[in-house]
Amino acid sequence: MGNRMVKLARRPKGMVTRQDFTIEDGPIPEPGAGEFRVKIEYISLDPAMRGWMNEGKSYVPPVGLGEVMRSYSAGIVDKSNNPAFKPGDAVQGLFGVQQYALSKGERVVKVDTTQAPLQRWVGGLGMPGWTAYFGLLEVGQPKAGETVVVSAASGAVGSIVGQIAKIKGCRAVGIAGGPDKCRYVKDELGFDACVDYKAGNLAAQLKEAAPKGIDVYFENVGGEILDTVLLQMNLFGRIPVCGLISAYNATELPQGPRNLRALLTQRLRMQGLIVFDWANRIPEAIAQLGAWHKEGKLKIREDVREGGIDAYPDVLNLLYTGGNFGKLVLKV
Ligand SMILES: NC(=O)c1ccc[n+]([C@@H]2O[C@H](COP(=O)([O-])OP(=O)(O)OC[C@H]3O[C@@H](n4cnc5c(N)ncnc54)[C@H](OP(=O)(O)O)[C@@H]3O)[C@@H](O)[C@H]2O)c1
Repeated sequence: MGNRMVKLARRPKGMVTRQDFTIEDGPIPEPGAGEFRVKIEYISLDPAMRGWMNEGKSYVPPVGLGEVMRSYSAGIVDKSNNPAFKPGDAVQGLFGVQQYALSKGERVVKVDTTQAPLQRWVGGLGMPGWTAYFGLLEVGQPKAGETVVVSAASGAVGSIVGQIAKIKGCRAVGIAGGPDKCRYVKDELGFDACVDYKAGNLAAQLKEAAPKGIDVYFENVGGEILDTVLLQMNLFGRIPVCGLISAYNATELPQGPRNLRALLTQRLRMQGLIVFDWANRIPEAIAQLGAWHKEGKLKIREDVREGGIDAYPDVLNLLYTGGNFGKLVLKV
């Protein structure tokens, strides 16, 4: 028995390959003074991981070569020298792609597995849920009666954005890839409409789905979808820029948005966001998302993959091909 872990071996070019990592066993670490040990059960696969592997200026330093790959994970405390965390506590935090992690409790959230299963605490009730909550409400500032459009609408963040938009009395329109995802977004999540960007003629589809124009566009994707949406934004619209996944594996920088003129003519506000910006308000997000979930107003779906630590590189790539359906999680 050891601690199996994924370390970054080199900076990937394009989609990751197994050769970009070393997957090895080490000893199970022993907690020191003030530390506790977590036996990790679920690893969150997040689109941002690809960016964390790159050199260059970002919102966090890159994962160093030879370091355990950074990840959100959820698990159970199995040994502790920290009075605030007891063996048996379920926790969520930045524990890395490995089977065991040590922590002093920084940015670790204790979670209630009687309220929702452990994997949901790295999904809709975890970081992606908090991102949707603060990104839409604080940056998007939707008002009842407005139209909110979100891309990657069936995914971890997008699915929550649209459902919060509905709760706030808005028209919610999703953009997703393929008929199955669109059906799910509309029929199960309760969005007013969902357009399939893979079916072609996105502009016409959007016009039909958002006949009064778009007041808030929650951006997860970038590229051509952003260009198309920009031309349908209403006066004083808001564009929270949460992610630009279409370019995360680009080996050459893509051409910038072509339709930025809409920012000028419609007096739009486009603002980037990082979930950590609201680090001190996470308890509020957990309480509100949890309450909506309990009331049945917020449906949450995980896509849990088997294969353990060794499957990490292959499972991660599913995010960039649309191969996931719901919050992508790796079972350890
Ligand atoms: N700013 C923050 O703090 C923060 C925090 C969390 C996440 N994010 C961002 O939020 C976005 C969604 O993340 P998530 O965790 O919720 O992932 P997700 O939506 O569950 O999965 C990613 C989805 O992106 C879509 N996609 C991938 N490549 C695409 C492309 N070239 N064009 C259009 N769609 C594409 C796919 O859906 P389809 O099959 O529908 O194409 C895929 O299923 C990402 O951009 C991520 O970086 C930001």
